Amino acid sequence: GQPAKQPDPIVGSGGEHHQPVQGGQVLTSAQGAPLSDDQNSLRAGERGPTLLEDFAMREKIFHFDHERIPERVVHARGYGAHGTFETTADLSAVTRAAIFAKPGAKTEAFVRFSTVAGAKGSFDLARDVRGFAVKLYTTEGNWDIVGNNIPVFFIQDAIKFPDLVHAVKEAPDRAFPQAQSAHDSFWDFVSFTPEAIHMTLWQMSDRAIPRSFRFMEGFGVHTFRFVNADGVSSFVKFHWRPLQGLQSVLWNEAVKINGADPDFHRRDLWAAITSGDLPQWDLAVQVFDESFAEEFDFDVLDATKLIPEELVPLQVVGRLTLDRVVDNDFAETEQVAFGTGNVPPGIDFSDDPLLQGRNFSYLDTQLSRLGTTNFTQLPINAPRCPVAHFQRDGQMQTEVPTGRINYEPNGFGGAERGPRADPSAGFQSYQEPVDGAKVRARSATFADHYSQARQFYISQTPVEQDHIVKAYTFELSKCEIPQVRTRMLAHLLNVHEDLATGVAAGLGMPLPEAAAAAMPTRTDLPPSDALSILKKG
Ligand code: HEM
Repeated sequence: GQPAKQPDPIVGSGGEHHQPVQGGQVLTSAQGAPLSDDQNSLRAGERGPTLLEDFAMREKIFHFDHERIPERVVHARGYGAHGTFETTADLSAVTRAAIFAKPGAKTEAFVRFSTVAGAKGSFDLARDVRGFAVKLYTTEGNWDIVGNNIPVFFIQDAIKFPDLVHAVKEAPDRAFPQAQSAHDSFWDFVSFTPEAIHMTLWQMSDRAIPRSFRFMEGFGVHTFRFVNADGVSSFVKFHWRPLQGLQSVLWNEAVKINGADPDFHRRDLWAAITSGDLPQWDLAVQVFDESFAEEFDFDVLDATKLIPEELVPLQVVGRLTLDRVVDNDFAETEQVAFGTGNVPPGIDFSDDPLLQGRNFSYLDTQLSRLGTTNFTQLPINAPRCPVAHFQRDGQMQTEVPTGRINYEPNGFGGAERGPRADPSAGFQSYQEPVDGAKVRARSATFADHYSQARQFYISQTPVEQDHIVKAYTFELSKCEIPQVRTRMLAHLLNVHEDLATGVAAGLGMPLPEAAAAAMPTRTDLPPSDALSILKKG
């Protein structure tokens, strides 16, 4: 007779790994057992106690109980999309990176936009910096440009990052405020950290309340290096320029939108991509050599400074198109792991102390966020080029490496011998000469905290300047500690008198004396002594 009818197979015909499937398939346990009922637990009698034996119920609840992973320690709220990067310039004279070898070449990409301070469930239109993280799956490994929509940063040294983030996140006792910079702790921190003033100018400008992700610029922020096939290095800055243009909302609009639709930005991106209105950005670079960098009156290793485009014009080298929404927000957007340390041959680091610290931080945090050293095997993180190494085992090893050799050097031949490092094709760090005493000290070239802040303020139209004055006024008016406001006004006076006068008038406060230019960033003085440390000497 006929064999008994089996449920449709849930395993693909090629014997590939089991994948949960949907639509017209028999529901199974995670072990693959077909289930007859997942709505009634197994009971001793219809009104009796539930039996411990009920593996279907225990497994269902067990998995649910562990659905959440820790949110990112910063940039927790984000939204991702897939895209394609097309190279438009041959940069082989300055970098050996394969992605820049051939105009017309296409590279798969994934982008995650984010706010910085708010929790995963916070609203989209906070006045905040936006993350702009791009993963390019190049033929020589993943290259991540983990940038923001503002070209400079709050601090010059990564060792200050935990302090900055603690100051901007909710206070540990009252657990508020959050997702806003309007509070004592952030401005208290900034008022003792004058290097942050420049970035707060951008943060108080319309840039920090973008109309949507599609209307934002992106910046790699740090000075990176290009290295060519001869080992010659140039400095480079990366810029993403939206073809849609740059647009922001007004603060009053932002507040209303947050109330009516906290998902406004993610909805906008989803709607644009699914309706075929594909957002695009040009990738532009500023390339300059070290001797040229020596002539600037700021230090290119200082992430609180930008390189004026009048000095080093932008050169467009590629175009990014976001063309596909994710299939699954958790598997892709939540599990994607960007890191500044992920670079292919031809891209290298500068000695920017913020960048150097970031190179440690991302890999480190991802171990606790994703729970395993094997997160590079997740589909969203896996390189699209071949991967061959002797790293073995670890939690959630999903690959099945074959063969007996997992060490080197080894004397085996042929396929058995395993991969070998290749001095000609492999990553060669730029041979920067390094010499110096071990010190904990900031370079004097990092000391000017106000000139670029002033240039930014002057570059704005009167309407935009008015928005900046109003934003500082609003934010500082929320500070309950008066000394914080005084210290901030003293810094703003160093930036521009009109700015300081406007904010002081808005706050109903007298103008204090200007802050000393090179104020120490750490002080043991209580806030009540604030003004005395603002004075030179
Ligand atoms: C996450 C940008 C400075 C540590 C992020 C993300 C972006 C970003 C865009 C979100 C990535 C995503 O969407 O998954 C920047 C920029 C910086 C900066 C542009 C300055 C130029 C720093 C510093 C540190 C740091 C100095 C630490 C020393 C982190 C950590 C995460 C993160 C731990 C969470 C990563 C994860 O959980 O996968 N940053 N960041 N960042 N950043 Fe930064």
